[in-house]
Amino acid sequence: MKILAIESSCDETATAVVEDGRTVLSNCIASQIDMHTIYGGVVPEIASRKHVEVISGLAEKALQDAKVEKQELDAIAVTYAPGLIGAVLVGVNFAKSAAMALNLPIIPVHHVRGHIAANYITHPNLEPPFVCLCVSGGTTLIVDVKSYTEMEIMGGTRDDAAGECFDKVARVLGIGYPGGKPMDELAQTGDDSRYELPRAHVQGAELDMSFSGLKTASLNLIHNAQQKGEPLCLPDLAASFNRAVSESLVPRVMVAAQQKGYGKIAVAGGVAANSRIRNDLLAACQAEGQQLFLPELKYCGDNAAMVGCQGYYEYLAGKRGNASLNAYANRDIGLG
Ligand code: KG4
Repeated sequence: MKILAIESSCDETATAVVEDGRTVLSNCIASQIDMHTIYGGVVPEIASRKHVEVISGLAEKALQDAKVEKQELDAIAVTYAPGLIGAVLVGVNFAKSAAMALNLPIIPVHHVRGHIAANYITHPNLEPPFVCLCVSGGTTLIVDVKSYTEMEIMGGTRDDAAGECFDKVARVLGIGYPGGKPMDELAQTGDDSRYELPRAHVQGAELDMSFSGLKTASLNLIHNAQQKGEPLCLPDLAASFNRAVSESLVPRVMVAAQQKGYGKIAVAGGVAANSRIRNDLLAACQAEGQQLFLPELKYCGDNAAMVGCQGYYEYLAGKRGNASLNAYANRDIGLG
């Protein structure tokens, strides 16, 4: 079964053709990062307009790269939630028009479910159930992946997502946007015990997290040093920050995995590319006898291959959209 997949939930327009859920025939991404860099963050209106400009051509390119004709497609999968509402709407409307013109079924896909499915592409033998840590610019969740389409949130951030926190701190340091990758690179040579940064605990909810305090503490530390004219060691700060994020995430996902007893942990989303988090998880999983599944770096960030992959399993479970399919800025992953 060949699925044309569309993703436009944030600042990447992406299209792909995926066969039978696990074989990526093409994977095209038009990033808008250059456009948003000057503002230090994604400007929603610009994101929507850029999606409109490129989405048609990028869908054609996905078919060309895959060497698949329109008539050979079996369905169209599209991210319909969550995301920047104007941006998601562009993908949903394009997918609805294409599905109508080609007389194909349309499959609505939850963006974070797509991130989880990126693991199926990298690991052909991975099957649910497993526990998944989903960490991106907009999401930080620990999810019980009971089956390909049945999921339940076990814990999550009460405020900022971990990726958002990386981006804000990096912006104030002036080291680039999006900030996760440059922070990760800077941290490689840093001393992670140089700066003391907080780790939050949510009383009575051991799997929940909070990153706003870490963000504020980091920004205060930077501003204080700047105001006093004191030098800041950027690699040490980045390493201390990476460690604080990792120590907020890793122990909680290990507790969640113990509670479920599946013996399998996966990681998903842009922040899953972080080398400190990957290494800490690897060490924890080795110590506790859990099998760890990490997506290939190219499938950590937003892409449409993951949407095509999850779309296949949603299709098998009977999920279909129609001409009245809407986009949603927020939607529980459990609802799909
Ligand atoms: O999954 P993604 O591409 O978009 C969302 O769905 O949000 O994630 C983007 C986030 C950004 O916050 C970016 O800074 C972060 O992923 N990121 C990283 C790394 N690479 C990307 N965060 C930490 N370390 C990295 N190496």
